[in-house]
Amino acid sequence: MPLTTANEILRVGRERGHGCASCNVVTLEQISGVVTGAERADRPVILQISHNAVRYHGALAPLGRAALAAATQATVPVAVHLDHAESAELIHEAVQLGFGSVMYDGSTLEHAENVRRTAEVVAECHSSGVAVEAELGEVGGKDGVHAPGARTDPSEAREFVRATGVDALAVAVGSSHAMLTQDAELDFDLIAQLRAELDVPLVLHGSSGVPDADLARAVDSGMTKINMATRLNGSFTAAVREYLAANPTTVDTRKYLAPARSALASDVAELLRMFAPEGARS
Ligand code: G3H
Ligand code: ZN
Repeated sequence: MPLTTANEILRVGRERGHGCASCNVVTLEQISGVVTGAERADRPVILQISHNAVRYHGALAPLGRAALAAATQATVPVAVHLDHAESAELIHEAVQLGFGSVMYDGSTLEHAENVRRTAEVVAECHSSGVAVEAELGEVGGKDGVHAPGARTDPSEAREFVRATGVDALAVAVGSSHAMLTQDAELDFDLIAQLRAELDVPLVLHGSSGVPDADLARAVDSGMTKINMATRLNGSFTAAVREYLAANPTTVDTRKYLAPARSALASDVAELLRMFAPEGARS
């Protein structure tokens, strides 16, 4: 089963009222852990690589090509997406590599500039058949400063989508990036208002800080793409920590990365089943 696009996964998810997990990956083991989890749950999944992950590796191509190759070999639909890109150059590179979608993050820019640059990115990406997610109303925590009070205004969001032509919109509804505790309080009424106001899938960022029951309620209220990073890093790293504590003389990296990959796969399978209880294969 082939590489697919996030647009296609989100279209089906939105139609059925399902959540679609979009999992951040930084290493090859995380790529294979996410794909294995999706295959085990028999659900589609989106692999996403953030601009920060690109900074860490110093390049997009090695990890991006690995993600595209893993998606091509998967037995369920898998999409590859560029997350939180802040530069047009990086977006251009993702398009050339064959990513099906990108997120342009102009959320820290002044509003008119966010609109202008997002529209430019959309024009370039759409000419290559690539979908674009953008962000309106900055979701906090990216710089370590949690700002759960940020909110996206529904009518401003409607105008933003119209003016830019984006395919999906990240909105601020009470979550914050990189939380280690699951106690963020989402504004479910606002999610429902945004869902009613907009014709494009809504994206929840900073999902790791949201309790499981509230993630399910967020999907029921109208969220479609659920971005997950910190929680998955947590299950991966906990398995590494556990293995090395029990085996302090191990030097073979495969010994501790294999259980980490497997812990991640279990976590992903559980999330995917929770977001799409009856299955969401397209
Ligand atoms: O774009 C990625 C996400 O918004 C992940 O946020 O690390 O809080 O799960 P998280
Ligand atoms: Zn995010």
